[in-house]
Amino acid sequence: MERTVKNNVSWVGKVDWELRSFHGFELSTFRGTTYNSYLIREGKNVLVDTVWNPYAKEFIDNLKKSIDLNKIDYIVANHGETDHSGSLAALIKRIPGVPVFCTENALDSLKGQFHKNWNFHPVKTGDRLPVGNGKELVFLEMTMLHWPDSMASYLTGDNILFSNDAFGQHLASIELWADLADQCALYEEAIKYYANILQPYNAIMQNKLKEIAAMGLPMEMIAPSHGLIWRTDPMQIVNLYAAWAEAYRENQVTLIYDTMWKGTQALAHAISQGVKAADPSVRVLVCNAGNTDKNDIITEVFRSKAVAVGSPTVNNGILSTMAAILTLIEEMKFKGKKAAVFGCYGWSGESPRILHQWMKKAGFDVMDEGIRYKWHPDDAGLTAAFEYGRKFAGFAGQTNAVR
Ligand code: FEO
Repeated sequence: MERTVKNNVSWVGKVDWELRSFHGFELSTFRGTTYNSYLIREGKNVLVDTVWNPYAKEFIDNLKKSIDLNKIDYIVANHGETDHSGSLAALIKRIPGVPVFCTENALDSLKGQFHKNWNFHPVKTGDRLPVGNGKELVFLEMTMLHWPDSMASYLTGDNILFSNDAFGQHLASIELWADLADQCALYEEAIKYYANILQPYNAIMQNKLKEIAAMGLPMEMIAPSHGLIWRTDPMQIVNLYAAWAEAYRENQVTLIYDTMWKGTQALAHAISQGVKAADPSVRVLVCNAGNTDKNDIITEVFRSKAVAVGSPTVNNGILSTMAAILTLIEEMKFKGKKAAVFGCYGWSGESPRILHQWMKKAGFDVMDEGIRYKWHPDDAGLTAAFEYGRKFAGFAGQTNAVR
């Protein structure tokens, strides 16, 4: 159902209440999502982005209620990923020859996925497309935020930035507006989105935010391609991104472990108590990687100034759940964070060394070789783990939280 965004700009997207995973099963979306498509009806009719292909028919049927498809003058494809480009094939079949404005890099991604030679018009940062009534779309390449083809488009006059993935949230809602959402849910989904999707590109994000500021475009609304539109103080999300893009860390220590017979779990709990005893001001969180959502863990790592990881030794290695979360942690390219390692073992006992090497490779400043315990920790073992937690709190305290 069409919703008015501002003046002659409407939302014509899809609310996906049921979606629980994204990028296959790589990203959890516990609150669903939206695929935001926008229709600008000025002298020219412009469609900005589409929706994921499973909803192409529904999208086009609804779009036909808003506009005669043949009257769409231009399509802007801000991004080639199929959650936004997925309905292009079905739509362009009905209006062949319609000009598609996208980045040069999108020629690669769109042709590579759809194998069509549509009427592409590659654009660069600063290029302008008059849309009538004195208004223009100004294009802004968002290279690697988060694909090479990513782009944002800015509508002059109404001063709306169609930011695509940036500034979005996987949050299903028919409210349309960020200020009407549950603010806790909005923040949780916005930071989870950043931590799991944009974190690896922090340096690019910092430069892009400076570039956008230098363009001097007044921002009355930021309309992302997922979730809710920022209309009340839209710079609030830009300011959050500026903080998140700079080695973000709160006064939080997170312990992540998995366990077979609860020995490593006992070490984790004792270490957590030691951290808290040494620094009552620090927020301490304990996550069992075996039963905690991996993207929620990444969000907590993102928020932490220090992370302790633990695994028992199994088959001369570590548990596969820990290997999976360490793979993700390494991919996120975190900076400015401390780490410690721990684990129980029965005979060979390699797990702390493996965890140490992995966390170092992932860019963490690892405190030492870690603590390990043969078989199940007794009182002396738990006391040693508690003291290790105290030591870790001191090490973590060498890193200032930015918030
Ligand atoms: Fe929402 Fe990168 O697609």
